[in-house]
Amino acid sequence: MRSPPETDELDTPPRILMGPGPSTIDPRVLKAMSTQALGYMDPRFLDIMDDIQELLRYTFQTNNDWTLAISGTGTAAMEASIGNLVEPGEKVLVRTTAYWGDRVAQMTRRVGGEVVPLDVSGTDPLDPDDVAEAFAANDIDVFYICHADTTTGIRQPDMSELTDIAHEHDAYTIVDCVTSLSGVELHVDDWGIDVAYGSPQKCLSSTPGATPLTVNERAREKIQSRASDTDSWYLDLDLLMEYWGDERNYHHTAPVTPYYGLREALRLVAEEGLENRWERHREVAGELKAGIERIGLEMAAPEEYWLPSLNTVQVPDGVDDTAVIEFLMDEYDVEIASGLGELDGEIWRIGCMGYSARRQNVACLLTGLEEALEAQGYEVTEPSIEA
Ligand SMILES: Cc1ncc(COP(=O)(O)O)c(C=O)c1O
Repeated sequence: MRSPPETDELDTPPRILMGPGPSTIDPRVLKAMSTQALGYMDPRFLDIMDDIQELLRYTFQTNNDWTLAISGTGTAAMEASIGNLVEPGEKVLVRTTAYWGDRVAQMTRRVGGEVVPLDVSGTDPLDPDDVAEAFAANDIDVFYICHADTTTGIRQPDMSELTDIAHEHDAYTIVDCVTSLSGVELHVDDWGIDVAYGSPQKCLSSTPGATPLTVNERAREKIQSRASDTDSWYLDLDLLMEYWGDERNYHHTAPVTPYYGLREALRLVAEEGLENRWERHREVAGELKAGIERIGLEMAAPEEYWLPSLNTVQVPDGVDDTAVIEFLMDEYDVEIASGLGELDGEIWRIGCMGYSARRQNVACLLTGLEEALEAQGYEVTEPSIEA
């Protein structure tokens, strides 16, 4: 017999989460998540699922019937989108030079799809001319776009222009809204997006485990007329909708607590109002950006593509980026992150998402950042916070 391991009662430091996600969970969401569990077929729980669907339609700005939460993280929603929409042999246009694009390309190959690589810079927004050229040269079926890139801090402009190109070629669009949903302007229907997914743990400030996804009528028809079943039974949207829709067939035991959390997070969005929430993200992240520039640091993303929910900052020459991250964590309990992949050591990634998008957090972070830089001999141009 193995003996039981000795462990302490759960206790975590009071971190302020200002990295690329998760953000700090809203206290109202935490409270909702402490509600007692219900069975997955309990009429009250089914009402809660209906509420989630209606609130998601508002948050995505869509009338899509197929609007649900995937039991899993953003990657599960990404995999559900690719796995359902892409049939073996179909061509997916994706920027493979970008971090998330590379992940989508790997998923595409796994479901038997063919990747058409959009071999353009991974750190700029997509250029509609490059996209049009790729469509003209290839018979594309599905086009993946990342609306808000958490690795580069770039917000993709011209969304309608990009989806128009796809539709002129009868292709379908999948848009990754993980870092934009509820924090940055997004109009799923008006922008002609066929499939979109978000994240509960970024601008919604809930917990991972119940991820928003929406599919329009056109994409639903494609999925329902597939010649072969999807590879994944668990992520089969047609089966999942038998649970979320009128049939109410058992599919899997819903992770009740993350669903409670998501519902409360979405209620908070509705109470604040989407436009006010987008504006709050712009305002608070704007204060962060101004403070960063006062210190003498440079934002990595150009102003016109700036993504308020995820701010990328150039690490100045001679500064140890990891030491700064550790200083902020040790002295201020503030979490920020380094760059991912090839941007490791080049940039810091500072999130300004949901409940974390607060002026007091920005003031705390800027004070700590200034101290961390001065500790390494960096001379700030001006104090980060205006007197
Ligand atoms: C743009 C983007 N897409 C997808 C994901 C994957 O989400 P998750 O880590 O929740 O699986 C992330 C995670 O940060 C992301 O930033």
